Amino acid sequence: MLNVDSIRNDFPILADITYMDSAATSLSPEQVVNATNEFERIYRANVGRGVHRLTNISSQKYWHAHEKVSGFIGGEDGTTVLTKNTTEAINMVACGMKWNKGDNVVTTVLEHHSNFLPWMRLRNRGVDVSVVNTEPDGSIDIEEIRNTINERTRIVAVTQASNVLGNLLPVKEIAEICHEKGVKLLVDGAQAVPHMPTDVKELGCDYLCFSGHKMLGPTGTGILWMKEEDINPLLLGGGMIDKVSVSGYTTVDGYERYEAGTPNISGMIGLARAVDYLEDIGMSKIKEHEEILTKRLLEGLRDTDKVTVYGPGDDNRIGVVSFNVDGLHPHEVAHILDEGAAIMVRSGEHCCQPLMNHLGLEGGTVRASLYLYNTKEEVDRLIETMKEMVRRL
Ligand code: ALA
Repeated sequence: MLNVDSIRNDFPILADITYMDSAATSLSPEQVVNATNEFERIYRANVGRGVHRLTNISSQKYWHAHEKVSGFIGGEDGTTVLTKNTTEAINMVACGMKWNKGDNVVTTVLEHHSNFLPWMRLRNRGVDVSVVNTEPDGSIDIEEIRNTINERTRIVAVTQASNVLGNLLPVKEIAEICHEKGVKLLVDGAQAVPHMPTDVKELGCDYLCFSGHKMLGPTGTGILWMKEEDINPLLLGGGMIDKVSVSGYTTVDGYERYEAGTPNISGMIGLARAVDYLEDIGMSKIKEHEEILTKRLLEGLRDTDKVTVYGPGDDNRIGVVSFNVDGLHPHEVAHILDEGAAIMVRSGEHCCQPLMNHLGLEGGTVRASLYLYNTKEEVDRLIETMKEMVRRL
């Protein structure tokens, strides 16, 4: 069991609010804030440039952030590139692959816009994008993925967990199909990696994209893990070259090749601290805690009149719960929760318009998303506030 009281002491922002919007961005504990501040106050310098003492400390810590993140996902055998967010990571893959007219990409209607638009843009280059539909609870027929892959498919791009419905996709099975068919697999791990133990070898993916800011790290931090360095870098410039002359250039190998320009150094040092924080607590314990809270939340909402809960049942899911109230727009519900009970949830389409259209949910949903710092009392507060809201309708 988690010692949530002790965890909450590390998040002073929680003193007088209930934060249930961690799927949009999580909060950072004091340890992460202090790590980023230390960089600014004590040893701020650019990385990989020069030899003075500050740049040595800064470079060492920045390099170490890659090691930390890589260890967190069992990705030591691949390359861990630090990015701005999941969106940037996915765009780097979509733009970095070599495309031919007629190539095909397979994705799903469940995807966040960030795992949709980068592929859709390739249609301008003659690439065909196939979109697999889901059942109303978000589940995917694995055979449909298999049947949608054709001889021109180069990559399958799927989310590990829906940021709207909370269901987990059968990524390992999808990976097996991809391997069988010689197709690459990109996994959008933004909603899953922060909430459960992850091993890229077990997932079987070629690319794993996720966000540091959804796993207690600073905003502006994300990750692209690659099994092989088989894409071209999105940006060219300082920090990634081997030799440059007026007649040409060569680039270095490794993560530096994909990180041109001065990076978000303090952010990534904070992210490394966030990884330590999560590992000290234990990802299995975090998963278990969230499962208990999610069951409680689902039960309470399902038991509330005029509330419709979307997504799967209690199992094989993350702590992201979408719902609506008859007669109220999702934004109205979110406002009432904030004004009346200081509960922060997200409302709207959650950057998933194709899914909302597929589910016929004009206006979107209210979404409560849980993390390690949430408590049973907070879940009960949300349920009580919803019951009271419905009583007043
Ligand atoms: N991807 C984030 C969300 O789903 C922003 O809320």
